[in-house]
Amino acid sequence: MYPERRMRRLRRRRLLPLFAEHHLRPDQLIAPLFVDEGADAPVPIPSMPGHVRHSLGSITIATQQLFDSGIRAVLLFGVPLIKDAEASSAFDDTGVVQSAVRRIRESVPDMVVCTDVCACEYTDTGQCGIVGTSADGSLELQNDPSLVLMQRIAVSHARAGADIVAPSCMLDGMVGAIRAALDDAGHQETLIMAYSSKFASALYGPFRDAASSGCTSGDRTTYQINPANGREAFVESALDAAEGADVLMVKPAGPYLDVIARVRHLDLPVAAYQVSGEYAMIRAAAERGWLDERAAALESLVAIRRAGADLIITYFAQDMARWLAEGA
Ligand code: PBG
Ligand code: ZN
Repeated sequence: MYPERRMRRLRRRRLLPLFAEHHLRPDQLIAPLFVDEGADAPVPIPSMPGHVRHSLGSITIATQQLFDSGIRAVLLFGVPLIKDAEASSAFDDTGVVQSAVRRIRESVPDMVVCTDVCACEYTDTGQCGIVGTSADGSLELQNDPSLVLMQRIAVSHARAGADIVAPSCMLDGMVGAIRAALDDAGHQETLIMAYSSKFASALYGPFRDAASSGCTSGDRTTYQINPANGREAFVESALDAAEGADVLMVKPAGPYLDVIARVRHLDLPVAAYQVSGEYAMIRAAAERGWLDERAAALESLVAIRRAGADLIITYFAQDMARWLAEGA
């Protein structure tokens, strides 16, 4: 027929699966999990329906369930009992994340355990590291003292058995400093998944409720990237690659597909973090009957894959694994 008929020929219903350019599989998804030192049982998170802050007891059960549904990696966030200026419970070998890692490694040994390396859940300011007075008299995140803190946190996670540490503080020199500290401590095999393109996004709101990690004063705009800056995100990612990152992350995901496509060219594995706000928007609209949750979630994740992400960190991980098994 006419050549212009070709496009719809490719879309004949029975042939559709044959020509799908991208597929979603559960083993491409990483499930974020919260573990709360003060919880004896799972505590629901109001702004993230379907998600809870786990206790040390329930985290292993949840991890086993994820594994059974086909998910092969989790990313742990800790909610400590004590916050202070030095974030001291963040690098405590008996801290909540370290304990959770040990339990998971023991009870679900084939699950890949990633840990978020940051201080905002552990500082009394809610800032991502050590705060001090800058030249103009304002309080600011201090780069180099915070690097030492991140080295301690990462090494304590690796010592507990984390497979992958994921530093998310956006300090200069973060990846190089952590790589050196891990190597010095004998953890050459621990990977670094760097939050390289982490934007100062409004979409982290539900997470900050979940992890009670909001800033008590100020914001994160002096270290997270301005959402207007794609070129800067690429440079930041290239620096992290040069410093020895094993995986580069883009966060948030959906509104930053151009950044994912760009970072793809650095030829390292790319992970995209579909953040709490992206999840909450779909969930909330679905609860009102305004969106088909399963279809919207699937479309959002396939689009992130199409842009070039190898891995997706998503709060839909468990549901999506089930939907895919049902033939979504
Ligand atoms: C810690 C961290 C944050 C997220 C992941 N790691 C919060 C932040 O930077 O405020 C956000 C994740 C989400 O919104 O799902 N720095
Ligand atoms: Zn932080």
